[in-house]
Amino acid sequence: MTKHLFIKTYGCQMNVYDSARMAELMTPLGYALAASPEGADLVILNTCHIRDKAAEKVFSELGTIRRLKEARARQGGRMIVAVAGCVAQAEGAEIFERAPFVDLVFGPQTYHNLPEMVARASRAAGERVLDTSFPAEPKFDFLPPTTTAPGVSAFLTVQEGCDKFCTFCVVPYTRGAEYSRPAAEIIAEARLLVAGGAREITLLGQNVNAYHGHAPPDGPNGGEWRLGELIRALARIPGLARLRYTTSHPRDVDDGLVAAHRDVPELMPFLHLPVQSGSDRVLAAMNRRHTADQYRQTVGRLRGARPDLALSSDFIVGFPGESAADFQATLDLVGEIGFAQAFSFKYSPRPGTPAASAGDQVPEPVKTERLAALQALLREQQRAFGQSSIGRTLPVLFEKPGRHPGQLVGRSPYSQSVHAEAGAERIGDIVPVTILDAQPNSLAGAIEPEPRSLAEPRLLAEHRA
Ligand code: SAH
Ligand code: SF4
Ligand code: F3S
Repeated sequence: MTKHLFIKTYGCQMNVYDSARMAELMTPLGYALAASPEGADLVILNTCHIRDKAAEKVFSELGTIRRLKEARARQGGRMIVAVAGCVAQAEGAEIFERAPFVDLVFGPQTYHNLPEMVARASRAAGERVLDTSFPAEPKFDFLPPTTTAPGVSAFLTVQEGCDKFCTFCVVPYTRGAEYSRPAAEIIAEARLLVAGGAREITLLGQNVNAYHGHAPPDGPNGGEWRLGELIRALARIPGLARLRYTTSHPRDVDDGLVAAHRDVPELMPFLHLPVQSGSDRVLAAMNRRHTADQYRQTVGRLRGARPDLALSSDFIVGFPGESAADFQATLDLVGEIGFAQAFSFKYSPRPGTPAASAGDQVPEPVKTERLAALQALLREQQRAFGQSSIGRTLPVLFEKPGRHPGQLVGRSPYSQSVHAEAGAERIGDIVPVTILDAQPNSLAGAIEPEPRSLAEPRLLAEHRA
């Protein structure tokens, strides 16, 4: 009999990737993904610990899950409840204290043992299982080859963990030390994704451009590959039209990566490059290990290689000790660079990180005010970027049905969401779309009547193959 598995995913794209892998691990055991936790046999909350709010959401969701588990028990059924991901890693056994009905707690590096953990918890005695270890052997060595249909745009984790220890951040503690998957393993997984219908792959890592994996045994430059070399190899996979990567660190933008932006048409001209602050004093206190000028220079190198590169970033306002002048430096930097899109957050003290115990915490109302000012500026830049697309014809990779019947939604090379009237048979196609209107978060356009040969990465890729 089919069992039902419900997974709720919080946080970053790496959690999205991990959730898909967890579902794949359970498929051979008869579990099918369910759309809601009601009546599920296994519920997994794949959690995020990055900010206080993100972590608190999990405990509020657990309240709902408890009621559903009790309802299931009244009907004579059993629901196994698992807390996975970064909250699990950070809080460990404390989750059992706060939510005694939870059966499994495990971190991002041990989920390959999920079938065994579920089996243990399913026994009559109902054993609780806690595994927040960092195994010496990477989980990737134990994950079966990917089997699920990936969709048009797929994620592929190439690097995990972080050795940078920014003073505000929990990631080095929740994900562990930096690890890069061997290039051959990544290429094999990418081929499976493309065979399953993916046209676009986003390479994932907490510090994806710190990538330094083993080169394939038969590849050029034996030894280690950096991200630029990996991108070049992946771009040669027939049928793979687009590549992206996230999240990168400004310190790890090496010449090979810049050159890939210049030479590889499949590499999309959009880059998420978090800067956090425009003040050198704050950047130093954050342990970012670069200055605002170095960020400007890095952007200059990238734009020199790919002049139409659109940039996105992350910002933290109200970091301990941030003065009005520091914050102004952030606004100045934003004004100079010009971002197509961005995320900005109030500094959230995280237990166990150095900045949390700094004496000069910024008062909440100041954080609120600064966040509003920064977001107003970033919104305006995003609006201007959208407006500048009106009248242009952009190659759009259609991913799925849009909001209205007869509509599809896809992405432009610059990662803008684009709606256009089109039949479902065009899902997975890259189609020239003339942009007619720009909303704050998406564009609307019409398909060019005649097939035109834009500088289409897909055509180039197929030509080369
Ligand atoms: N590896 C990426 C960021 C991963 S976390 C990098 O180095 O940039 C994603 C974003 O969350 C960060 O870029 C940062 O802007 C934000 N963030 C992380 N910790 C935070 C905290 N304690 N408070 C507020 N925002 C935080
Ligand atoms: Fe966190 Fe800094 Fe590592 Fe990014 S580089 S994951 S912000 S510690
Ligand atoms: Fe959150 Fe962990 Fe990702 S803390 S942002 S889910 S690495």
